[in-house]
Amino acid sequence: MEFVDRFGSPRPRQFFAPGRVNLMGAHLDYNGGPVMPLAIDRGTFIALRPRADRRVRFASTIAPEAFEADLDHLPTARCGSWADYPLGVLREVLASSDGADVAGLDILFGGNLAVGAGLSSSASICVGTALALSEVWDLDLGTMARVRAALRAEREFVGVRCGIMDPFAIGLAREGSLLWLDCKDESTAHLPLDSGRVSLVVADSGVRRELAAGFFNRRVDECRRAFEILRPGQPDATCLRDILPETLEALRSELGGELERRASHVVGEVARTFEARDALLDGRLGEFGERMSRAHESLRDLFEVSCPELDCLVETAVAQDGVLGGRLTGAGFGGCAVILVRRGAEADAMARVGEVFRARFGRETAVEVYGADSGPREIEP
Ligand code: GLA
Repeated sequence: MEFVDRFGSPRPRQFFAPGRVNLMGAHLDYNGGPVMPLAIDRGTFIALRPRADRRVRFASTIAPEAFEADLDHLPTARCGSWADYPLGVLREVLASSDGADVAGLDILFGGNLAVGAGLSSSASICVGTALALSEVWDLDLGTMARVRAALRAEREFVGVRCGIMDPFAIGLAREGSLLWLDCKDESTAHLPLDSGRVSLVVADSGVRRELAAGFFNRRVDECRRAFEILRPGQPDATCLRDILPETLEALRSELGGELERRASHVVGEVARTFEARDALLDGRLGEFGERMSRAHESLRDLFEVSCPELDCLVETAVAQDGVLGGRLTGAGFGGCAVILVRRGAEADAMARVGEVFRARFGRETAVEVYGADSGPREIEP
């Protein structure tokens, strides 16, 4: 096995953490709104083994750069590679370990999740690392402590001003369920997604942009500025999610074009996400899918985070028989589209999406059915 090839015997312990798709609540988490993510059966594998000294060595089966440091002299600033994510978590876990006498480690990361494709490869590696460290170092960190360590690593060490959705979606995953997460009070519920009736198809646009590159933080900032302008119209509001359609209407002209579009997306998406929850709970999956498609239009026209490749995937998919809805997933600016399809209609819809994409962009797109996952865990080597 690859770990032994790189680091020698004996065999390591192994852990898995899934990625996620989010079906509703796009760009709502950092605005205090509700979101509906689902952990998927693709994710990060982490193999690790304690050492006799205080060295830590990270390697990846996907990226060429490796990382090595001493537990007592860990870098205090990010180095700009994939290793920043597990390093940020390592720093968080050490800080919360009350000076426990822990051993150095050799760690190999791998996985079957498209990286930087809107499937939360970053939270997958972070939550997975928190679990692996907690287990191997015998720290007994609970689920929420691991989720918070992952979140702080990404926000404070890597520097992405992400909301809480991704580590919660992964850390609290339950098989066969969507997570309903209200990001204002952090309340959660597990809502069943009937895999007997529908499948999730994920289509990859092949377009990549690093969240850490700054465009995501720009949207976070635009939402903050829109809220500052709208708040005087509704003094009890604590976040953009609280803003009512009538407040937005009354102050629309003060926002100016760009901020008006951003705020309109958020206000509309909050309403759509509540409607989608009701539809799901009532088994009206067609209406749920329809909200996903409306969300995509809003992400394209108002939040402006789509791209021609994603629009092509979604528009082609939703025109097929048996497709209930589709939208870009994750932050956007490339990455994947998630498509909700009636059971039995997957093959035809997927073939057509691939065909149209190839004709338009001259390359293949990965279009696959994804299953739901039960969350981070140790696995047999
Ligand atoms: C990224 C962020 C999440 C969330 C989504 C958009 O995935 O990490 O916190 O904001 O974008 O819904």
